[in-house]
Amino acid sequence: MSNIRKNSLSILNYYKSFGVESHIQNTPRIRFKNYNDQKNQKKTIHGKLTELKKKIINVDCKLKLNSKNFVFYDGILRSDIMIIGEAPGFEEDKVGKPFVGAAGKKLDEMINAIGLDRKNNVYITNIIPWRPTNNRTPTENEINLFLPYVEEHISIISPKILLLFGNVASKSLLNLNEGITKHRGKWFNYNNPFLNKKIFATCIFHPSYLLRSPNKKKFAWEDLKKVKEKITNLKITI
Ligand code: URA
Repeated sequence: MSNIRKNSLSILNYYKSFGVESHIQNTPRIRFKNYNDQKNQKKTIHGKLTELKKKIINVDCKLKLNSKNFVFYDGILRSDIMIIGEAPGFEEDKVGKPFVGAAGKKLDEMINAIGLDRKNNVYITNIIPWRPTNNRTPTENEINLFLPYVEEHISIISPKILLLFGNVASKSLLNLNEGITKHRGKWFNYNNPFLNKKIFATCIFHPSYLLRSPNKKKFAWEDLKKVKEKITNLKITI
């Protein structure tokens, strides 16, 4: 039950305890205004995402010829924390959702360790929406082709924190020349062309890389702890 509903019920029960059985006003009182506002906001985000999806699907890109499914997003639409990965792999292509294979399990493990999860408080997407053949790294052209749509995607979700997993997301969105090893664990001010607000962004080793190089997990853990700290400092409710 939502808090608004709970509060309204407790007020009614309070009146009832005095023996009040009915209550008539001249005009109806909107007790669920905030609830309706939230519902409308969600609808607007959903509408904008539907429009964006149509645009991205129409992008002329050879990757889609060898893909089974368009992979768009998973998670909570009104989230303050947005995760961006690289591109779908075999499982993601099969299911049509980001991070559902082995790398996805690892990603869940990583974010769960700091109280985040896709069913409650994060939104997840990738730079590239179609699976590159044999999971190769996307080319610069492919990245540049989709980057404006990723920026629009970020503006629709409008998070407070961006978690960029791996080199492709980190370098392309933060315009970095060096790789993630140099920049992981730092905070950047990410500027979005469609938004006039401050978004904190950080780079974290990609879960697939950690599966291949488990000795690097300790660095990812250090970085995740910094994310948790930032969530606390920004008073983000998770
Ligand atoms: N790797 C990614 O970067 N994204 C996915 O969705 C799956 C694997």
